[in-house]
Amino acid sequence: MKGTNLTQHRNAPIDISPEEFRSAGHQLVDRIAEHLSEIRGLPVTRSESPSQIRKALGTGSVPAKGSPTNELLQDTASLLFDHSLLNGHPGFWGYINASGAPMGALADLLAASVNANVGAYALSPLATEMEKQSVQWIAELIGYPSDSGGILVSGGNMANLVCFLAGRKAKTPWEIRTKGIGGDGKTLRVYCSSETHTWVQKAADMFGLGTDSIVWIPVDNTLRMDIAALRREIESDKKQGNIPLMVIGAAGTVGTGAVDPLREIAAVCREHNIWFHVDGAYGAAAAVMPDASEDLKALSLTDSVAVDPHKWFYVPFEAGCALVRNKQALLDAFSYHPVYYKFHDGEEPPTNFYEYGPQNSRGFRALKVWLLLRQIGREGYIQMIGDDIRLSKEMYRALQQHPEIQTFTQGLSITTFRYVPQDVQRGEKTSEEYLNKLNTELLTRLQASGKVYPSNSVINGAFVIRACIVNFRTTLEDVLALPELVVKLGKLVDGDLREKELKV
Ligand SMILES: Cc1ncc(COP(=O)(O)O)c(C=O)c1O
Repeated sequence: MKGTNLTQHRNAPIDISPEEFRSAGHQLVDRIAEHLSEIRGLPVTRSESPSQIRKALGTGSVPAKGSPTNELLQDTASLLFDHSLLNGHPGFWGYINASGAPMGALADLLAASVNANVGAYALSPLATEMEKQSVQWIAELIGYPSDSGGILVSGGNMANLVCFLAGRKAKTPWEIRTKGIGGDGKTLRVYCSSETHTWVQKAADMFGLGTDSIVWIPVDNTLRMDIAALRREIESDKKQGNIPLMVIGAAGTVGTGAVDPLREIAAVCREHNIWFHVDGAYGAAAAVMPDASEDLKALSLTDSVAVDPHKWFYVPFEAGCALVRNKQALLDAFSYHPVYYKFHDGEEPPTNFYEYGPQNSRGFRALKVWLLLRQIGREGYIQMIGDDIRLSKEMYRALQQHPEIQTFTQGLSITTFRYVPQDVQRGEKTSEEYLNKLNTELLTRLQASGKVYPSNSVINGAFVIRACIVNFRTTLEDVLALPELVVKLGKLVDGDLREKELKV
């Protein structure tokens, strides 16, 4: 194979000139700015099939030769802007997917330019301190002790998994890191409400407890954990010789935004010496509000909290944050020392993040978090999160006023509802089945409309449409337009389905 002359100048195809970088970069930034300026007028999604997407993408094998930078970036920007689901659109209210802050795009560019490996201080001195500061600021914003420990991870699942491992190590009465899960033949148990996100099954499964170790605690009629049932289960486990390891509370369930009675759970955990973890991936951010509920204020009583900056802090994917009251618990759960790591610690021992979580090499996601916290500040977050909550309440009110819409819940910034044709009797088995089918299809049509993009939840067996506003572009006008669209499409779906389903 023909090589290149390596003597003085290496002509690496990857190393574009500063002029080319500047020109391609400027043009790309212009394209992005243009896209953001027109996002409101674009469809949220074009609902394309995988084969349509593959057709647009092309299916050739890896190119033998490279392509010119600018042309490639411009073509790829067109491809992405034309064929992506735009969660930055004001009508995007699906799942808990925030619209990403424009600052995040600039931050990622800057972070990739430094390309810091935030696994070890020596490899990323400033970036490491920025991550520490970001974690501390997140703790401060949600009222968590500012001397707690923490680490940025890829998202809510990972933040919960990291906290779970910290709790597992701290509360298992044998050396779990060496002896493993079967240590002395006893069963470890974790308790959470039936509304808990599926990360808990992943945790129990991946970390060897098995999903049978999860004790699902029922919820009351506001979908919050039933504390009397929690107490009964813990006591019964203790009697049977099982080990109650951890209670997992929710600060904002994924389905309806319910916040568990965190203060009461904290008391139960203290009484029984159980690790208290809260999944605040969605709702912990709302603890920044001066009028936050007493339960959100009780986040400070937990042993660990998962926060998810890529949700209600509007950081573009990915950014999660595991907060642990006692930072030593993270070291106890994760620290190993590879022989090939010889970092000189100097007089002041630095933080090496590879000891605080599962990753060794780690990206510089802290920069976008740090820059956003600085750009927005506490007051900015109070304003935006407050607006999202107010808009969600307005949405609920507007939906409530329509006779053919049944509203279910409004919690944090999530509203749930369904379309019920006037002549369909609620509560009967066949009509409930029909309403589930109708609303499932209605959700597909709402999403395909390109105007709005809610997702769904299931409440006591009812399929409900669910709008979660973590979107700084949504306005009151967008929200007030929803009932009419729901009813218009609901009637069409009803017309299409009725003959088939009700056989009338
Ligand atoms: C309450 C809750 N926990 C955990 C997660 C998982 O977060 P991620 O998707 O960032 O991993 C979500 C996601 O919506 C959530 O709402």
